Amino acid sequence: MRLTDKFGRAITDLRISVTDRCNYKCVYCRTGNEGAIYAELPLADYLRLARIFVELGIEKVRITGGEPLLRPHLTDFIRQLAQLRIQHGEHAGRPIDTAITTNGHLLADLAQPLKDAGLSRITVSMDAVDPAKFARITRVPNGFENVLAGIRAAKKAGLAPVKVNCVLLRGFNDDQIVAFGKFARDEGVVLRFIEFMPLEEDRVWSPEIVVTLDEILERMKAFRPLVEIPHAYSETARRYQFDDGVGEIGIIAPVSHPFCGHCSRVRLTSDGKIRTCLFSLFDHDLAGKMQRGASDQELASFIESVIQKKEARHHIGEPDFIPPSRTMVHIGG
Ligand code: 5AD
Repeated sequence: MRLTDKFGRAITDLRISVTDRCNYKCVYCRTGNEGAIYAELPLADYLRLARIFVELGIEKVRITGGEPLLRPHLTDFIRQLAQLRIQHGEHAGRPIDTAITTNGHLLADLAQPLKDAGLSRITVSMDAVDPAKFARITRVPNGFENVLAGIRAAKKAGLAPVKVNCVLLRGFNDDQIVAFGKFARDEGVVLRFIEFMPLEEDRVWSPEIVVTLDEILERMKAFRPLVEIPHAYSETARRYQFDDGVGEIGIIAPVSHPFCGHCSRVRLTSDGKIRTCLFSLFDHDLAGKMQRGASDQELASFIESVIQKKEARHHIGEPDFIPPSRTMVHIGG
């Protein structure tokens, strides 16, 4: 049995937010205010839910936050997660793909233990290569050095290729495009520019603040042109390399080039609710059912029924756009 929604999209990719706490307060994500309400489940509960999702057809699990490395015992959790096996289709029997998206602040000491625990891949969010600009965006002093050390430790641990996510905001870090291109070449990381989506707590999004795929390509030309290379069907990023064949740069363009038609994702928030789209107006309380004593079979049936409600597409930038019911810090990207 494969998880398929009513539009025929195969749902193979689960993202689990294991905490909505974060040690950064990035301007495009969190408010500067303290006093947020935090909600997380015991790690054993995420593991049980992940196992049920995998039995239904999930092949990749990405752990997100908040900042997932803030969760104590994350390494043990990854070790257990990495033991799950793909259940259906041509890859049945293989270990699932396990990944983490982190801000990298605590990664230097954790990269090797995570690799040893069986983690397949890591993505580090980094929105400036200039340390002062980095501090202005994250609203934390001296983070840049930690993140750079984290990226290098991940490479050394064999978590290659390390991916680096950069969300571009006009007026904040759009002057970093070329510097990021050089950084990707020098450090040997796969860079992913992401168009800014309206998922922040402070409602600062506007079409003007988004730096689009076309503009990124145009501005990178001042350094070296990027040439498109093939990407997998369900991959969200369009992939490029520099014209001398060096580097890999992806551009994830949900605003200017939506990819909803081949979305393979479903998300679990840190408080155990299923989200079928980043922009869903509702979520579905899976943890609540679990806490009321539902069996694995009951939870599986609930997941299957929720997947049937997956939205056809998002409505970013359209007059009928309604901001989603949860912000990124709870959903986890
Ligand atoms: N738009 C696009 N990307 C975002 N991220 C966080 N908020 C947004 C947003 N509003 C990115 C983070 C991280 C990943 C999980 O999503 O920077 O790399």
